[in-house]
Amino acid sequence: MLELKNISKIFPGVKALDNVSLSFKKGEIHALMGENGAGKSTLMKIITGIYQPDLGGVYLDGAKVEMKSYRDAVDHEISMVSQEIQIIPEATVAENIVLDRIDKFQKGHRIDWNQINKTARKYLDMVGLDISPLEKIQHLTAAQKQLIQIAKALSAQAQYILLDEPTSSLTAYESNNLIKLVKVLKENGVGVIFVSHKIEEVMELCDVISVLRDGKYVGTKPCKGITRQDIVKMMIGREESTDHMGFLDIKNEVVLEVKNAVAYGKAKGESFQLRKGEILGFYGLVGSGRTELARLIAGIDKMDSGEIFVNGQKANITSVQDSMQTYKIGYVSENRKEEGLILDFSVGANLSITVLPQILKKFRKIDLKEEKKIINSMVDKMKIKTPSAETSVGSLSGGNQQKVSIGKWLAANCDILIIDEPTVGVDVGAKKYIHDLIWSLAKDEGKSIILISSDMPEMIALARRILVFKDQEIVGEISDLNEKERSYEDVSLEIGRLMA
Ligand SMILES: Nc1ncnc2c1ncn2[C@@H]1O[C@H](COP(=O)(O)OP(=O)(O)OP(=O)(O)O)[C@@H](O)[C@H]1O
Ligand SMILES: [Mg+2]
Repeated sequence: MLELKNISKIFPGVKALDNVSLSFKKGEIHALMGENGAGKSTLMKIITGIYQPDLGGVYLDGAKVEMKSYRDAVDHEISMVSQEIQIIPEATVAENIVLDRIDKFQKGHRIDWNQINKTARKYLDMVGLDISPLEKIQHLTAAQKQLIQIAKALSAQAQYILLDEPTSSLTAYESNNLIKLVKVLKENGVGVIFVSHKIEEVMELCDVISVLRDGKYVGTKPCKGITRQDIVKMMIGREESTDHMGFLDIKNEVVLEVKNAVAYGKAKGESFQLRKGEILGFYGLVGSGRTELARLIAGIDKMDSGEIFVNGQKANITSVQDSMQTYKIGYVSENRKEEGLILDFSVGANLSITVLPQILKKFRKIDLKEEKKIINSMVDKMKIKTPSAETSVGSLSGGNQQKVSIGKWLAANCDILIIDEPTVGVDVGAKKYIHDLIWSLAKDEGKSIILISSDMPEMIALARRILVFKDQEIVGEISDLNEKERSYEDVSLEIGRLMA
């Protein structure tokens, strides 16, 4: 058994963990949940020796263990996949996988590279990655890097494996694979600690769930028979609201029209119109062509044929600059983890990158007091959990970093916004706030929005028309959501039929 007894951890300005006691068993999948900044990652890092607790200790089978570094944890057969991508870009895939145990591959004075590559191949196959062990990390996608981190943790053959939001940059297909893998680990008697914001995923996979709130332990419950509302209530101390957002005042004016967009392997000839003040949903599985079409409109990828019209005029979009500056189209990429934030800069500096032009326009010079006011109100409105606006973004919890990057683009000056998976990795409270913000951009500011989301409740709450994508084509449309209030079950069934 792995036990934590009375753990407290203080960072400048925050009590990240406050007297937390918890135990984990072998052969059990134990979910650890809680809002952004609740202390989940800090707890995982204390178990694995990356942080030392200020008070309390870690116990293995009854005996206290001193974890001074990650190396100590690996020696005690505990390994972790951290929330941040932590692999060495200059090294090869195989080198990264065996990194923590490279001495085990020593034969006299030589390192047995053959054995290293063979080992790497085995674990790559296990996570379903069809790449060479000799490949350099640099050119890989975020999902591939995440899978390599998982392969690395598996290769340590640990008794306890800690996974901190392992599916946040994986596609549905890869997530399913990982979930199967975690089940196999459990069957082999490994104890798994699984941090995730995806409630459905947790309910399907885990045996027990523990919740942290503001650094404090709330409780542990078996997953069997637990409902989504039970979990939400433990996390935020109240129930999640599922109110219908209402109706939008959508104008007849077509602000964006795409005619027969074709791009090899990405789009097979899609056409659609977006009206002023509308929130249009793109629903479909990952890889069905939603993001691919968005990237053509945003000027990131090129069309082979087809036309785009903005405000009735034929648009010539050949770059992101064209799309943003000439046509005022903003694309908020799904891949925020690897772009967009300057981690060494303060929360305020990151937010003000987009706020500054507004201040300059209004006051003709930088008014520091005004800038501070706007930044503080954004921190407040987004519920960004930070000691102050001067704190560096790199020290915030993962979800709070995401709120900063979302806050940035919401302030940007665009008429058409394409928003790709806005709430992945964000907790339920912040999710509600982001939903309200997107809604108000359309309703109060008349912006036209394309929402790409795999989260069906999010799609149905916000979109007032939904295009359904399959195999790089639009296969159907749900068009009456701004006319009558339809139940969630009803709409989700119709989407299911269109995708079949
Ligand atoms: N290295 C650090 N320096 C200063 N503060 C930190 C550091 N690491 C975490 N914190 C703070 O400790 C608190 C808990 O953060 P933690 O990363 O554990 O949250 P979390 O539950 O993992 O959240 P998320 O769901 O957003 O990943 C937060 O307020 C965070 O800002
Ligand atoms: Mg975290």
